[in-house]
Amino acid sequence: MKDKARFKDKVVIITGASSGIGRATALAFARERAITILASRSLENLQKVADEIRAFKTDVLVIPTDVSLQNSVHNMVEKVMARYGRVDILFNNAGSAFVGPINHEKFVEDTKKMIEVDFFGTVYCTKEVLPIMKKQGSGYIINMSSVVGRKAFPHFGGYSASMHAISGFTDALRQELYGSGINVSIIHPALTQTPLLEHVKPEEMPLPFKRFTPISAESVAEAVLKGINKKQYRVIVPFQPKMLLLADAISPRLGDLIVRLMPNRVFASLIGIYSGKVYDNKSY
Ligand SMILES: NC(=O)c1ccc[n+]([C@@H]2O[C@H](COP(=O)([O-])OP(=O)(O)OC[C@H]3O[C@@H](n4cnc5c(N)ncnc54)[C@H](OP(=O)(O)O)[C@@H]3O)[C@@H](O)[C@H]2O)c1
Repeated sequence: MKDKARFKDKVVIITGASSGIGRATALAFARERAITILASRSLENLQKVADEIRAFKTDVLVIPTDVSLQNSVHNMVEKVMARYGRVDILFNNAGSAFVGPINHEKFVEDTKKMIEVDFFGTVYCTKEVLPIMKKQGSGYIINMSSVVGRKAFPHFGGYSASMHAISGFTDALRQELYGSGINVSIIHPALTQTPLLEHVKPEEMPLPFKRFTPISAESVAEAVLKGINKKQYRVIVPFQPKMLLLADAISPRLGDLIVRLMPNRVFASLIGIYSGKVYDNKSY
């Protein structure tokens, strides 16, 4: 029987917990009786998630936080320490995404915003909890990236750069912490049905996304918990993108060819990324 309390009483910080993958992961941890700390900017949305979590009769703390501001992150971790005196797991998940070709007039501005939130948010939170985890001699940091954090898609140059930055940072962090009792993972999900891209018009979506059946936020949450449990260095979810990443590692020419073929319905069905449904940005 599956142990449903693998994370009982663990103090877990989840950034970007007010929506999508962060919300689903917070609920998954709470189901396993973890103490969840919900951090993002919107107090109202965080409180809605906290209300859902209270049904599991576990402790939950809401801390409005802007991860792109080092001070805000510092205050958040200080509050966690004041109440619980420890941090067992940090899930660096908060993020934003903008789409557009590299020659788009807003490319530089949008990319800077993504680097500030997605990458520096991860850096600030990590730097804040590291001394605590070192003192404890234990801890777990899991960072959110994306499949495009290993292989970019056209019109996703800025987002992909930001996700690649997280990949590089995590790779170094894991090696620096080897033997310290602090474990580090990274997760690379494929397109997931969340509000992340709701502001993007269907015709502006990166081409391969036109034939992707998105995965659920719950399946990503499950992969996060499983990845921690198994101490996986790199979690790729679902299985299919591994083939793209392997092909791209052998030959970027082959990787590019696969990306170009992805909008083709027959090809997308054959490689198992399309089952009739596509990302729906009108469902929020
Ligand atoms: N959806 C996908 O296809 C997909 C695929 C791979 C990876 N990802 C990554 O997964 C993560 C979660 O995205 P999602 O898909 O669940 O999107 P989402 O539903 O839009 O959630 C994004 C979360 O980040 C928070 N956030 C944004 N800016 C923030 C800031 N400055 N400070 C603190 N929190 C902030 C938002 O909350 P507030 O507005 O309350 O701050 C929200 O809770 C992102 O890092 C994204 O890059 C998503």
